[in-house]
Amino acid sequence: MTQELSQQIEPNNIPKHVAIIMDGNGRWAENHGQMRVYGHMNGVDSVREALEAATELKVKHLTLYAFSTENWNRPKEEVDALMELLVDTILKEIDKLHKNDVKLSAIGALNSLPNSCQTTLQTAIDKTKNNQGTNLILALSYSGRWEIKEAIKSIVDDATKGTLTSDDINEELITSYMQLNNVPDPELMIRTSGESRISNFLLWQIAYSELYFTETLWPDFKKADFFKAILAYQKRERRFGLVSKQIK
Ligand code: FPP
Repeated sequence: MTQELSQQIEPNNIPKHVAIIMDGNGRWAENHGQMRVYGHMNGVDSVREALEAATELKVKHLTLYAFSTENWNRPKEEVDALMELLVDTILKEIDKLHKNDVKLSAIGALNSLPNSCQTTLQTAIDKTKNNQGTNLILALSYSGRWEIKEAIKSIVDDATKGTLTSDDINEELITSYMQLNNVPDPELMIRTSGESRISNFLLWQIAYSELYFTETLWPDFKKADFFKAILAYQKRERRFGLVSKQIK
């Protein structure tokens, strides 16, 4: 079935950037009579599947919401387990990622992550920085409002220094102060687990993104599900505020 789906995909209309809100790990674990962390551990397999699917389709940028600013408020055991899982996963996968030409990067308040996490992440980012394949971007200790707040602070700092004035402020300039300034806005945003919310993810960048919501819980989200999301995207008509006739 996975191959049948991939064959239906139009290769000339692949999004350059797909963003995913990976949700439902806790419920998946509960459905299996297990602790929440078991859901996160199985969620890592779905990360691998999504990355493989993106690479196969030549989606250039894949941004995953792995840990939000709000996630710090979860019970300490769960936060610690997630940080440990992140370190273990990077250590385990880094050689394969590098071999597959994947470039790893991260957005968010990375300096608020535990030291072991920062070091492992930075080593992996440095190792893969010249790779030309899929750009895997992990959002860690990230939220859209946090990113916008940081951008405003930097803009005000530069205005105070006199390097810019209010006349210089336009959408392009604001984008240049965002963490994802080198990456095109996501054409497609996917959220799993039946929730229809944005939950503070990439608020600036999703102005014109197609939103795709699926009931599937993240640990059950496999390559075929990624292909289904791309097929749904290809059926949409992206009008950017114009009327249908103008874009035909
Ligand atoms: C949301 O499910 C998921 C998370 C907060 C963490 C996502 C992390 C992973 C998939 C594993 C680590 C990732 C990488 C990149 C190695 P939830 O816990 O909110 O589920 P629930 O809504 O059912 O409670």
